[in-house]
Amino acid sequence: MASLDAVFSAYESRVAELEARAATNPFARGIAWVDGEFVPLHQARVPLLDQGFLHCDLTYDAPAVWDGRFFRLDDHISRLEASCAKLRLRLPIPREDMKRLLVEMISRSEMRDALAQMMVTRGIIDTRQMTSDKAVNNLYMFAKPYVWAMRRDVQQTTGGSAVVARTVRRVPPGAMDPTVKNLQWGDLVRGMFEAQDRGATYALLTDGDGNLTEGPGFNVVLVDGGVIYTPDRGCLMGVTRDSVLRVAKGLGLEMRCEFVPVDMAYRCDELFICTTAGGVMPITTLDGQAVAGGEIGPVTKSIMDEYWAMHYDDTHTLEVKY
Ligand SMILES: Cc1ncc(COP(=O)(O)O)c(C=O)c1O
Repeated sequence: MASLDAVFSAYESRVAELEARAATNPFARGIAWVDGEFVPLHQARVPLLDQGFLHCDLTYDAPAVWDGRFFRLDDHISRLEASCAKLRLRLPIPREDMKRLLVEMISRSEMRDALAQMMVTRGIIDTRQMTSDKAVNNLYMFAKPYVWAMRRDVQQTTGGSAVVARTVRRVPPGAMDPTVKNLQWGDLVRGMFEAQDRGATYALLTDGDGNLTEGPGFNVVLVDGGVIYTPDRGCLMGVTRDSVLRVAKGLGLEMRCEFVPVDMAYRCDELFICTTAGGVMPITTLDGQAVAGGEIGPVTKSIMDEYWAMHYDDTHTLEVKY
């Protein structure tokens, strides 16, 4: 993973530069856009009566900025629009304005590596009188320094440890459509606690019928016999997973998006999880047992390299002018 070393060490120097700027730039540790104003993230407030807060009646999306470029921003906004449509929400501002504001937030903050969030809520309306046409939906946006769902050293050396959750299943698509990016994390949080109780860090949730779905904030991918498998149901259509699939295609690997039985995770050659906050994260221990040889596998390594290379490709990125 030679190129990954270079990518990550350049990131470390940018983090040090940003720390130095925080003394003079109030947005360097995070910026929010609320009610048409830019505010330092830790001063941002939401109205208590917004249904997004009271009933989690919202959707959101979370694109990353890497080395001064938004990664696949249009794809994140398209998913946000699709999620809004499914929940009868409307994007409160036009797409181009959202892009312009996001770029401005990053530019003002001087963050070169960040995780942004755009949250669309139902707004301030009594739930019992709520009809989709009456509500004035709200948009809240913020960006904070880039977040790692798996520490970089763990990604590059040992890989992470996961459990297949036994005490909780993923909410069924008939109850909460998981293709709508949402913050109803009750099942995912229970999974995280179970993972901790069982001495692991990550929880993979099933659909209750013996198939894998996803985990708290990430998709699940398996490599078995040179074929890539990932669940097609019960999970978010992750942008990172889509990037992985594109990379895998470029590497000439066959990919199957289909039911993935849990037992496949115990006998596969390689297992990884993936999300915008951290990229491609190898899992080398599952339920206390080594996954295959317990080492980060060659396919995972190649995918990680290519995934980060995509972040420097103009076709997938939007440059921020600082
Ligand atoms: C439940 C869930 N699944 C999967 C993902 C990964 O999605 P993406 O790769 O688009 O960040 C996320 C991201 O936050 C998530 O919350």
